[in-house]
Amino acid sequence: MPTALITGTSRGLGKELVRQYAADRWQVIGTERRDMDMNDVAQIRRYAAKLHDKPIDLLFCNAGISGKRGMAIGSFDFQSWEEVLRVNLLGPAALAEALVDHVAASERKTIALMSSRLGSIGESSGMTLPYSTSKAALNMLAKGLAATLASKAIIVVAVSPGWVRTDMGGAGAPLSPEASVRGLRKVIEGLTPRDSGRFLSHDGTEIPW
Ligand SMILES: NC(=O)c1ccc[n+]([C@@H]2O[C@H](COP(=O)([O-])OP(=O)(O)OC[C@H]3O[C@@H](n4cnc5c(N)ncnc54)[C@H](OP(=O)(O)O)[C@@H]3O)[C@@H](O)[C@H]2O)c1
Repeated sequence: MPTALITGTSRGLGKELVRQYAADRWQVIGTERRDMDMNDVAQIRRYAAKLHDKPIDLLFCNAGISGKRGMAIGSFDFQSWEEVLRVNLLGPAALAEALVDHVAASERKTIALMSSRLGSIGESSGMTLPYSTSKAALNMLAKGLAATLASKAIIVVAVSPGWVRTDMGGAGAPLSPEASVRGLRKVIEGLTPRDSGRFLSHDGTEIPW
């Protein structure tokens, strides 16, 4: 039975990821802010240490925040921006670092970082800069880890869920969490080492960096 560790599972996409992987007979370790705050590197390391040498087939760094709404030039809130960078970028980096041997010891050896189309530099329109810069940096983390972890046969991808009806995506989003996660799971299921370092949408299409 493969094992997935998924962050940010109290609601939204993380909750649906847990539901679908568990229904598909994976062993799922879902983490929430109260047991592993992605804003706290020391806590992330302590949590990882408790897993001892458990192999993790899929590390899915899903937890994320968008920061204060409506921040634009002239109204940047750097405290909020820093928090976005810590949760969306530094937390996943710390967790990947802490669990790299667990992933390497598994069969599927996959790390998925939940990015966003807003993190695409190629497509950027300047919207929501704190959030989009955090996801652009997360994309670089995916690409960089893919290169440095290739020697351990670990596949690393940045994935975008589409625009989804969650607290973050809002009620007007076109995709249900169920459909988005079904697509993401299919994309992850089909990954081969040649896909490592790619930025993929939930429908399997490539997103420009
Ligand atoms: N929905 C979309 O349209 C969309 C589009 C592109 C990308 N994404 C990405 O998809 C991921 C999930 O988003 P979502 O739509 O499911 O958002 P959501 O409904 O707002 O859920 C966010 C999840 O992240 C957790 N989280 C936030 N800060 C955390 C922290 N410091 N430590 C641990 N957990 C924390 C939340 O936990 P609490 O309940 O404790 O706050 C919650 O479980 C995010 O990375 C987001 O950027 C979403």
